[in-house]
Amino acid sequence: MLEEPVLDLDDIQGNILPGFKKDSQHFLFLQIVDPEPARLWLKSLAPRLWTAREVLAAHSMWKAMRLKLGHEPDNLDFLFLNCAISAQGLKKLGVPDIEKFDDKAFKRGLEERSSSLGDPPRGSGEPGSPETWIFGAGSRRPDVLLILATDNLDWAVRVEEELITSAQQQGLQRIHVDRGRVRPGTLAGHEHFGFKDGISHPAIRGRKSIAPDDFIESRTLPEDSAFDDIYRSRFAAPGRPLVWPGHFLFGYLRQKSDEPESSRPNSEPSGPAWAVNGSFLVYRRLSQDVQRFRTFLAEASETLGQNGFDSDLTPERLGALLVGRWASGWPVMRDPNLDRGEQELGENYFTFTEATTVSLPNDPYPLNLPDPNGLICPFAAHIRKVNPRDDATDIGPKERTFQKLLLRRGITFGPEIEDKPQAERGLLFVAFQTSIVDQFEFLMNDWVNDANKPHANNGGVDPIISAARNTKISLVNGTNKFDLQIPGGWVMATGGEYMFAPGIRFFSNVL
Ligand code: HEM
Repeated sequence: MLEEPVLDLDDIQGNILPGFKKDSQHFLFLQIVDPEPARLWLKSLAPRLWTAREVLAAHSMWKAMRLKLGHEPDNLDFLFLNCAISAQGLKKLGVPDIEKFDDKAFKRGLEERSSSLGDPPRGSGEPGSPETWIFGAGSRRPDVLLILATDNLDWAVRVEEELITSAQQQGLQRIHVDRGRVRPGTLAGHEHFGFKDGISHPAIRGRKSIAPDDFIESRTLPEDSAFDDIYRSRFAAPGRPLVWPGHFLFGYLRQKSDEPESSRPNSEPSGPAWAVNGSFLVYRRLSQDVQRFRTFLAEASETLGQNGFDSDLTPERLGALLVGRWASGWPVMRDPNLDRGEQELGENYFTFTEATTVSLPNDPYPLNLPDPNGLICPFAAHIRKVNPRDDATDIGPKERTFQKLLLRRGITFGPEIEDKPQAERGLLFVAFQTSIVDQFEFLMNDWVNDANKPHANNGGVDPIISAARNTKISLVNGTNKFDLQIPGGWVMATGGEYMFAPGIRFFSNVL
């Protein structure tokens, strides 16, 4: 096992690591109209951008305060700011060596790549095709993205206005603003279909300092020797895989083929020298048709019930089978019949092919049984599609899946359907990685949108996020297999771009 590298936390932007985790996040998309003043303006932002180390410190302070008070602090707030630039934006700014990135998806941009993500083709005029997007296509492709995050909505609005005014005075123009906001009350952290999100995240390997165990992601596996050496060397916490930083950050090593515990020499992602400590940012503005999804669950659960799948099938349980988790986040693998409610302990501790055998201390609930045939959690379930965990897949043994993982940083947008039924709502999907082709696009093209992958059994496309219409997925109950028709179309792209979030020194040194 190799020693994990010290990551340059004073250069890496804080939304890559550890993530902003704030209730309001505003995404300001700008276009460069006059490169020289725009370059100077972007350069002047450098001292305002939050580093990974600063965001880590801010989170620790907030947690300490919560502990002292016994509730969330009312008066401790931060306003984080980060910045990313598209390939088109880098070109306009005259930044050198862009062609050294070998990721063709980044260089071409989201609009050109969108049909390979399953969006209706450009020119078709169908909802979800680039010409219907609010921004991100044609003359509305952004060059610059500013991300503002805070728990204080008024503060975010004030700073958003200040930044746009000063940008517009210095060679940039506003293209679009998305205001993300967590849902109110007990729905906080749940996406608009109702399911808790943001539970499963890979843990980046790496240290904060040269001290041997000063890890960025704490290792919280129980001391218990039942977690054998292999599990301990591959997971930071139950169900939370350790991934080499080169899959998320330029300038660091990636995994050695099928050995997650080792890095491969000279495997840094290829890009310009100035890309070190940066990461590709995928932004997809996804609209969710909540009413359509709910109606589908109600009708389909009734039909399946009548056809002998399970006479007690509720819309809630059908939804859980499609996501792979109950609304509370509790994994279907750990209880296919009952939502055990929201609880952090054990909510990410499960496998698919094999059974789990070691219980976590104080975790009273049943562990998961083996499910190599998709009887408990359908192969098409969203979380089994995008992270098949211990399933062998079309790309090989389970160890290869570690290299496909993303750092997700999205947030919901739009009002509650009960408050404003006609308004738009959805997910501002944000993910960091070092290969858009091998990570985000791979997941979308090869697994989400292919009925026969990652499991070669015609299990169906991802019923939550695939844009495909009128497909079918397989559900199994006992020995009976049921085909469920999925009309689809409840998640639709309405904008976005592929960007690059450079190290903070890029702003002062390269620009
Ligand atoms: C509106 C669209 C989407 C909805 C409603 C949605 C919903 C969810 C939910 C409820 C979870 C479970 C919570 C968790 O494990 O963190 C999840 C996990 C996940 N989603 Fe999505 N998602 C959406 C879009 C996407 C997209 C576009 C991708 C890109 C490939 C994606 C990738 C993932 C990944 C990687 C996980 C974690 C799986 C795991 O490690 O177990 N999601 N999503």
